[in-house]
Amino acid sequence: MTDAPLIDPFHRAITYLRVSVTDRCDFRCVYCMSENMTFLPKKELLTLEELDRMCSAFVRLGVEKLRITGGEPLVRKGIMTFFNAMSRHLDSGALKELTLTTNGSQLARFAGELSSAGVRRINVSLDTLDEDKFAQITRWGRLPQVMKGIDAAQAAGMRIKINVVALKGFNEDELFPIVDWCAERDMDLTFIEVMPMGDIGNENRLGQYWSLKDLRAKLAERFTLIDLAERTGGPARYVQLQETGQKIGFITPLTHNFCESCNRVRITCTGEIYMCLGQEDMADLRAPLRSHPEDDRPLEEAIRTAIALKPKGHDFDYSRQELGGQMSRHMSHTGG
Ligand code: GTP
Ligand code: 5AD
Ligand code: SF4
Repeated sequence: MTDAPLIDPFHRAITYLRVSVTDRCDFRCVYCMSENMTFLPKKELLTLEELDRMCSAFVRLGVEKLRITGGEPLVRKGIMTFFNAMSRHLDSGALKELTLTTNGSQLARFAGELSSAGVRRINVSLDTLDEDKFAQITRWGRLPQVMKGIDAAQAAGMRIKINVVALKGFNEDELFPIVDWCAERDMDLTFIEVMPMGDIGNENRLGQYWSLKDLRAKLAERFTLIDLAERTGGPARYVQLQETGQKIGFITPLTHNFCESCNRVRITCTGEIYMCLGQEDMADLRAPLRSHPEDDRPLEEAIRTAIALKPKGHDFDYSRQELGGQMSRHMSHTGG
């Protein structure tokens, strides 16, 4: 067994691991979940110790960026134990970034601890600044709670990036208010094209789709956009607004495929590895993990075998006015 880095068949080095620690969430965003979701029984989930072994194996194999997702990662019981444990990989220098994507609902409670564990930069999903619209899109979420969370995270010294799913007829009219709000609060901002994940009544999906080409053109009516070469290791491409200096990212799975530079794989909360967000290819890593409690070699072998099967890219496609590349999985299954 060597510690050779993970390289996939398309010569892409896998250095970014996204780990979903729960399929549960305290919100029910309409593009992400149906209202009545059935969640997994606890015994199916990787324990906190198993999550630690899994992530540590990936770090040994060259992963430098670890993003914790869900569902909502901060609703997983005991999750701070896991963050605290992972901070040892930051201390050793093996891991360059430990971070999470969150809906913000629990940040008021956990911001201080996350910061102490070495989390420097977090992504908060927020699609509107209007309280009523927020309640509508998240079904169960309340905006003031998230705002308190954002305050707490900034007070704890963490840098924030707001993730906005671009939705036609929903937040189109909030483009400039959201941009201004992020500038005022010194937060980065990324827009995301809505992807066909999960059966949530897809007659709506095409109607919701707002291409970032259009969004960008609208932004350019008021600002001068300077393309930046800078990357954060994720799929976003960034511009700087000359007038305000702020940084805005675009994640464009539909209008511009970024798969050629893909550096990531995903682990679900049950220990499946998904080699691509937009394909069904997956492998079970829980079995080799559980059946060899003292020996990580079978796990590492299973990881290498899975990486050798990483597909070239997704097939999402809304052209011809129909959905292509639709995934039956919900986004909360693989954590986005
Ligand atoms: P940073 O660059 O570190 O800020 O992170 P990120 O953009 O990788 O993470 P984040 O959790 O904020 O992801 C934002 C969106 O990008 C989510 O909707 C993800 O589903 C999407 N995304 C991330 N990786 C991929 C990918 O490989 N393929 C596709 N199609 N979408 C992705
Ligand atoms: N398309 C695009 N982004 C989505 N997210 C959830 N579901 C979808 C979808 N169908 C986003 C969330 C969060 C990130 C992890 O994924 O808003 O920011
Ligand atoms: Fe929860 Fe995020 Fe899905 Fe919304 S998008 S339901 S906050 S996992």
